Amino acid sequence: MLVVKDVSKQYGSFSALKNMNLEFSDGVYGLLAPNGAGKTTLIKMLVTLISPSKGEILYNGTNIVDLDEDYRDILGYLPQQFGYYKNYSPMQYLLYLAALKGLDKKNALEKISELLEKVALTDVANKKMKKFSGGMIQRVGIAQALLNDPKILILDEPTAGLDPKERARFRQLLTGLARERLVIISTHIVSDIESIANEVIMIKNQQLLYKDSVGNICNTLDGHVYETSISYERLESFRKQYVLLSEKQEHGSMIVRFVQKGKTEADWIPANPHLEDVFLYEYRDELLTDL
Ligand SMILES: Nc1ncnc2c1ncn2[C@@H]1O[C@H](COP(=O)(O)OP(=O)(O)O)[C@@H](O)[C@H]1O
Ligand SMILES: [Mg+2]
Repeated sequence: MLVVKDVSKQYGSFSALKNMNLEFSDGVYGLLAPNGAGKTTLIKMLVTLISPSKGEILYNGTNIVDLDEDYRDILGYLPQQFGYYKNYSPMQYLLYLAALKGLDKKNALEKISELLEKVALTDVANKKMKKFSGGMIQRVGIAQALLNDPKILILDEPTAGLDPKERARFRQLLTGLARERLVIISTHIVSDIESIANEVIMIKNQQLLYKDSVGNICNTLDGHVYETSISYERLESFRKQYVLLSEKQEHGSMIVRFVQKGKTEADWIPANPHLEDVFLYEYRDELLTDL
């Protein structure tokens, strides 16, 4: 069990995270928040690259900093900016990393073949990575994170730069990896984790907003999401009055999906909230300034 206890992180006078309390057991956790929310900061503390300004992170009751090597032995990590060697093949690259981790060559070769099979790169095992697609590079990244068969696997924005097909394939790969392991995946894309996370963690204003199942998080907007058809002319005023989640054209008018917590109108049709709705609603201010 991994426990984040009263953790805050300051960068100089800037508070990146405040009083985070989290508990992780086995399963897939999706860390979902827009850019700049503090996902990488939290992850870097979880992998001991940086230390909390306040609080501590415990693994089975011991501070991970004190566990040192013993903790890193059970940890697999894919950084957001994953550095690799373009002129190496996946096989060469993984052999190199395995040597750094102290695996002997025979065991390393066996393990690497097995991993390349798992991430579907066997065919290109000996090809230079120079010409690989983003998805292929990310799969090499996942393979390197799995070299030591980690109990804890932490992936920081592993789907960045992947096309929808590569994303789907990535989700499949992850569900296979999640058995008897703790997996933490950060992303700012709802669909990456919506279907595979046992729990979703959302950070807002440097603090924990939700840590719950997708269903329970969606329930926070239960009875408040509606769809209705309006004329183009009303769109501007509608945008000002309600939190719009989506708008699409249909037969010369607009179908809008929106959140309203107060008074409703007769021609509004109640909709089942999705995680995307909660995401757009909770981060409406941040996402607006992103545009
Ligand atoms: N080394 C650093 N020094 C100062 N500010 C930082 C540093 N790293 C991150 N930040 C700031 O902390 C906030 C959270 O960043 P980050 O953890 O990278 O968020 P995310 O991964 O969710 O995009 C951002 O405002 C970012 O600019
Ligand atoms: Mg990040």
